[in-house]
Amino acid sequence: MGSIISVVNFKGGCGKTTSALNLSAALCNEGKRILAIDNDPQGNLTAALGYTPAEQKRTLANLLLAAIDYPEELASHIGHTIIHTDSGIDLIPANRRLADAAARLQVMQLSQYNAFGETDRCCEKVADSLMPFLIDAYDYIIIDCGLKHELLTVNALAASDFCIIPVQSHFLASEGIPDVLDLIRSVQAKFNSKLKIAGILLTMYQSRPQLCRSVQESVREIYGEQFHVFERPIEYSIKVAECPAAGQSILAYEPRNPAAESYRSLAREVLILG
Ligand SMILES: Nc1ncnc2c1ncn2[C@@H]1O[C@H](COP(=O)(O)OP(=O)(O)O)[C@@H](O)[C@H]1O
Ligand SMILES: [Mg+2]
Repeated sequence: MGSIISVVNFKGGCGKTTSALNLSAALCNEGKRILAIDNDPQGNLTAALGYTPAEQKRTLANLLLAAIDYPEELASHIGHTIIHTDSGIDLIPANRRLADAAARLQVMQLSQYNAFGETDRCCEKVADSLMPFLIDAYDYIIIDCGLKHELLTVNALAASDFCIIPVQSHFLASEGIPDVLDLIRSVQAKFNSKLKIAGILLTMYQSRPQLCRSVQESVREIYGEQFHVFERPIEYSIKVAECPAAGQSILAYEPRNPAAESYRSLAREVLILG
């Protein structure tokens, strides 16, 4: 059975999409069968894999809506939605229509409250209901989360075995982490007791500035007892920022880049999670 991993943080630009893409690529290079799910209406992961979000007719939004309205048709919808990308990674794409699906989840949430929680359908577990159709075909399902639409992130976490929290190395250590930890704890308590934090991943690391090193030290100091901090921070490299425009991972774009090695190191740590 495959593992489901969400990449999550409520801080924008901390490297969630970059890490979802490159972790997927690194695991794919290890011979693993990978499904990447774009769970952000911005569609950045879809674009980074070489597909124009606005042109996608079948997306995660269709699957979430089908899971709500026509669960009996889900299997055929899923088959038509998965893109087999040239990279070897399979993709469920996203675009702005995912925001409509998020709005629909919110309407469900309101009616759940009105029914005092006594409904058979729970707006937080819609993404989870897709997983039985996917999990046998993949070794890892990697979900790239967005910033807005907390219910989409809750859905990803409620469906996941693990989450990875990317943190930009030159920000204060606590940036974004407390908020995301609160959400993870709440999902663990209410919807998914098997959810584990795989670790905190330092991104955009520059070995030169002292600040990065001190952030790395303080992240380990503050969180190292509680959570794993991945061994190797992801180096800052302009090549990493360039490769989404080429529709490639850094592993394909410049395999010898230090950041590519760091994502391979992350993949090795992920492989031993199970
Ligand atoms: N290691 C890195 N080196 C250089 N630029 C990076 C690196 N990681 C991410 N970026 C760039 O930083 C920006 C934000 O990264 P992104 O992964 O999109 O963050 P998020 O998904 O958390 O919003 C993007 O332009 C991306 O290309
Ligand atoms: Mg993103």
